Formats: sequence, C-alpha cells, structure tokens
Amino acid sequence: MTIANLQSTREPSTPLSENKHLLRWVAKIAELTKPAHIHWVDGSQQENDTLCAEMVESGTFVRLNQELWPGCYYARSDANDVARVEDRTFICSLSKENAGPTNNWVNPFEMRRKLKELFSGAMRGRTMYVLAFSMGPVGGAMSQIGVQLTDSPYVVVNMRIMARIGLPVFQEIDKDNKRVVPCVHSVGSPLAPGQKDVPWPCNNEKYIVHFPETRQIWSYGSGYGGNALLGKKCFALRIASNMARDEGWMAEHMLILGVEDPSGEKTYVAGAFPSACGKTNFSMLIPPPAFAGWKVWTVGDDIAWIRPDAHGRLRAINPEAGLFGVAPGTSLKTNRNAMAMLSKNTIFTNTALTPEGGVWWEGMTDEPPAECLDWQGNRWTPQIGKETGAKAAHPNSRFTAPASQCPTIDPAWEDPHGVPISAFIFGGRRATNIPLVYQAFNWTSGVYVGATMGSEMTAAAVGTVGKVRRDPMAMLPFCGYHMGDYFRHWISMQHGLSETPRIFHVNWFRKNGDGKFLWPGFAENMRVLKWIVDRSHGRALGQETPIGWMPCYEDLEWQGLESLPRQTFEQLQEFDRVAWRSEVMAHEELFLMLHDHLPAEMVYERELLICRLGTGREPVHAPIHPATPSRNDLEELL
Ligand code: OXD
Ligand code: MN
Repeated sequence: MTIANLQSTREPSTPLSENKHLLRWVAKIAELTKPAHIHWVDGSQQENDTLCAEMVESGTFVRLNQELWPGCYYARSDANDVARVEDRTFICSLSKENAGPTNNWVNPFEMRRKLKELFSGAMRGRTMYVLAFSMGPVGGAMSQIGVQLTDSPYVVVNMRIMARIGLPVFQEIDKDNKRVVPCVHSVGSPLAPGQKDVPWPCNNEKYIVHFPETRQIWSYGSGYGGNALLGKKCFALRIASNMARDEGWMAEHMLILGVEDPSGEKTYVAGAFPSACGKTNFSMLIPPPAFAGWKVWTVGDDIAWIRPDAHGRLRAINPEAGLFGVAPGTSLKTNRNAMAMLSKNTIFTNTALTPEGGVWWEGMTDEPPAECLDWQGNRWTPQIGKETGAKAAHPNSRFTAPASQCPTIDPAWEDPHGVPISAFIFGGRRATNIPLVYQAFNWTSGVYVGATMGSEMTAAAVGTVGKVRRDPMAMLPFCGYHMGDYFRHWISMQHGLSETPRIFHVNWFRKNGDGKFLWPGFAENMRVLKWIVDRSHGRALGQETPIGWMPCYEDLEWQGLESLPRQTFEQLQEFDRVAWRSEVMAHEELFLMLHDHLPAEMVYERELLICRLGTGREPVHAPIHPATPSRNDLEELL
C-alpha cells in the first residue's frame, strides 16, 4: 500500500498496522483515556491539509498570508504553556540512584498510579491520533521508532515536520516486529458533551515522565515543544541516552556540521552548547568573504546519535527531520540560511502577527512593524513596547521548519549510516576566563572539559544573571540516567575506536573590561573552525598550556579580519593561572554531587589539571639540583 492509493479509500479509524502488540496497546490506552475518535495518522499531505484546515476553523491556527508565507501557519499558546518544564520532568527508573541527583525522580509504581489517575478520561471529546514516527531515516540501521498517542492535532502537524511519520513507519513496524517506544500524550483537557474548545487546550498540572527501563514516555498537561513533541528531547535524548549506554552508542545534545575546504575535502564535527549559545546559527554558518571556496554544510542543529562503524570510526546521524528553533534574534544578518529555511511550510508559535498576515519577532528586522498583535493577541506597537517593556514575540517563540529547506543542508544528511565525526566541540557563554578556543590533550581530558563546561545564566533563565551553571555536555536537562555513569560511558566509548576524534572548547562570548565582546562572532567563527579542522587532521600548530593546546596568533587565518588587533586576540586567548585555580575549585561542586558514581578518570584529570596549574609559588625555572649553599648562606644558617 502507498500513501497515494490509500487516500481515496481511507477511513482514519482503520488501523494502519497489523502488529498485535501495537493494536492491543492502542485499544488499552483508548479504554483508559476515552477519546471520541481514533485517527491513525498516514502522514500524507492531504491529511495534513485537512488537520490544518480544522485547526484554522477551531482557532488554534491562523493561516498566514500565502503570498508572503506559502504553506505557513501561526499558533498562539496558552500563557501557562510556553516552554519545557524541567521541574515537572521525571526520570522514573526503578532505583532513585540510577536517575542520579540531577534528575527529578519518583518511584515508578507510584508514578504509574498517578498517571492512570491523570489519563483516565483525559481525551474525552477529543480525537486520539496514532502517530508512528521514525527518529532517523525510516529503516536506517541507526534509526529508532516510536508511536505517540496524542489528543493534539497541533502535535501531529509539528511532528510531521520534526520526524518521519505515518504509513512508511507503520510498514516498518509490521515488517520486522521492530522495537517501538510507546509514548502517550494528552493536553489534559477533556471536553464535556457540547463544550466549546479553546484554541490552546492544556492543563496547569504538567507531568513529563520517562520510564527508562521499559523505554516508555508519558506526557500530560502541555502541548508545547519538548513537552509534547515526544520524539525530540524525551525520546531522542532522555530515553535514547539509556538505550545508547546499554548498546554502546551515544545520544547527544549536539549540532552536526561539515566543513568543506576549497580542495573539496569535507570534515564533520559535532558540537554541544547549552541553550542561548547560538547552536542553530553555528550549524548554518556562512564563511566570511575571505574564505572563498569554503563551505559549511548543515547536518543537524540539536541532536546527534553517534555510533562506531565496522572500522571503529564514530559516525553520526541527525535523528530529526526538522528544526524547532528559537525565533527571536533570527534575522538575515544573524542567520540568512535559517530565514530562507523558514520562509515556507513552517509553523510559527508565539511570535507576533502582522496586519498583512505575516510574522515578526524581536531582532528579525532593525525596524519593528508600526503595529502588530503580540504573542498573546494584544495590540503591540514599538511605543507600547517601550512604555510597558512588553515583547511582541515571546522570548521562547519558535519556528518548526523542514530541515530539507535549509539552503546548506548537507547532501549526506539523510545517510542512514551517518557522517564520520573528526572532532567534538564543547562551548559555553563565559564573559571571563575561558579562551576563544583550546584543544584538550586527549579523549579523557576532553571528557573532563565537556563534563565541567558551564555557561552564564541569561536574564531569561531562573537564577542569578551571570552566575555560571555547570551543564555537562549541555545534557543536564536531557540525560536520562546518572550523570556520573554518563561520564563513564563517554570514557568507555573511546576504547573500541580506531580513530579518536579530537575534543575542543570554544567561547565566543569573552568580554573586555568595558563589558564589550572581544570576538566579532558569527561568520568569523569560521576562523576558529578552520583551526579545529586543521588540528583534527594534524596540520595546524599550537602551543601547549596547562589546560590544553591553543593557537598562537599566526596559527589562525586573519585575511579579511586584519582590523582585529593582535592584542585583542591575546586577550581572547589569555590564560590566567590564578583565575583557573578558582575555576577548577568550582568543578568540585558538581563532582561532589556526583561523587558516588564519578569515574576515577574524572578525579585524576582534575588532579592533573591542578598539578599543571601549580601552586603559584614555584620559581619560574626551578633548578634541578639545589645550588650549593654559599659561604654567606652557611654563615647565616649557623
Ligand atoms: C531546545 C533546547 O529547545 O535545548 O532545543 O531547549
Ligand atoms: Mn536543544
């Protein structure tokens, strides 16, 4: 059966799979949640168009001006459902110890009782969609399958962009009895007979729950982003990190990009950065004019699944098919590729809506529109914004756009075997102390660099602005088991490799004494990327420092950026022994929390780093043998 010949005859309640376990489970969840209808999602364009039209009718969607924004829709969420809810996210492993101190844990039996209560009748008056999805190309050796039962058509049409869904996935499930991760999702807002629906149904009580041993996900109360598009953070990171540990691969919160040089040589790197560090922009970097013939190709902007191939080389896939990107700050100046990608077939959520039926967000253009409706539907003008401080777009407003529309999408981005990874890059937002770029000495010291990385909190996050939050490998909210064991898994991954990727740390955000950024950022990051690529191939110089290898001024390409004074580069790379001693002391806080599962290597790496930093009291050139005391010294001693 193909989607084309299915269309004319299709009745949505007819199952698209013959898998007995799947059919039994769907029936069981329907029995619990009591939906009015069941709809097996085939993933076709026709079905998508119908769902979108129904959402326009119900007020969930606004169809944007099709001349300006072809194929695009706009949604406004409830004001209490605008972001991932980390404090309502649970890892319910059998033992609390396996979840570790960085995750919320609830006894799984207790949680199952609670979920049964919450989901009982939760879909009354709604349609339950049976949404099969593949993370990674359908049938690919590194791909995984999930089935999400959801009462949100908004989730269905977003998942159609973010993953491969529908009939081909059901066929894959039926073909080999493939392992399926069952995901149950409800917005938690049942409708009584005749009750009018609201545009964004949700519940103030939210539960985002993972059962790592049984590989199950249950999500209640939210329709937004990572809370509801369960293939993304819940499956591709929290559940997949458990699968990966058990099966010898890695599920990482990383972008993947390929750097092509003028000779055609292509080098792929993967990078982990906490939120608000420009991961999406970096993955779509356009080299500056002086780098004629160089090109950066995008494989993914958020998640990487990485596995050693038969030759012992790490290869990575992007398990997603779309981008769920933060809109504010995205512009033709900051990310021309993203703007091209989201210009059609995109869903915008919580941006502002312009009178011509378009979208706008802070930072999209230098001049704001004279008037628009803000993300809550209120009239907004630049004057109102100035007077009240109200933003037109919510700071976490998003675009959901197909990755295939990105102008720099890599030709191999859907290769089921992945792309070979030559380097890992860790990074954070640090105003002081951390150089623009350095390379770890080896894999274990690189794992230490990733494990201890941190980023300054921005005003958008709860916490003290400027305070460094440790976010190991940018996985703090996404690792589905004990962080200490996660470091051990990273260390052990190298044991079977024939080629070890090099590990680097970057910081685009170092500031001078006046609080100004020292590095111009954006396209100029290409200069750093080139050094990383060259180092990975063993052909760039650098100097050894106590924290790793760093480029000297001469080691970077400066053509086109001669205006950056050498002295500024030296400030960017400055390594301050005293400040680094405090830095290393701060690592202790995280390590103490994880101490009972911390691999010995992390402790030794820290000790070695402390030794390399020295006590600060030793002479610069200590003599190997103490000099023979002079006559005068002897006299003094006597
Ligand atoms: C994301 C995140 O949305 O990391 O990708 O929060
Ligand atoms: Mn992310």
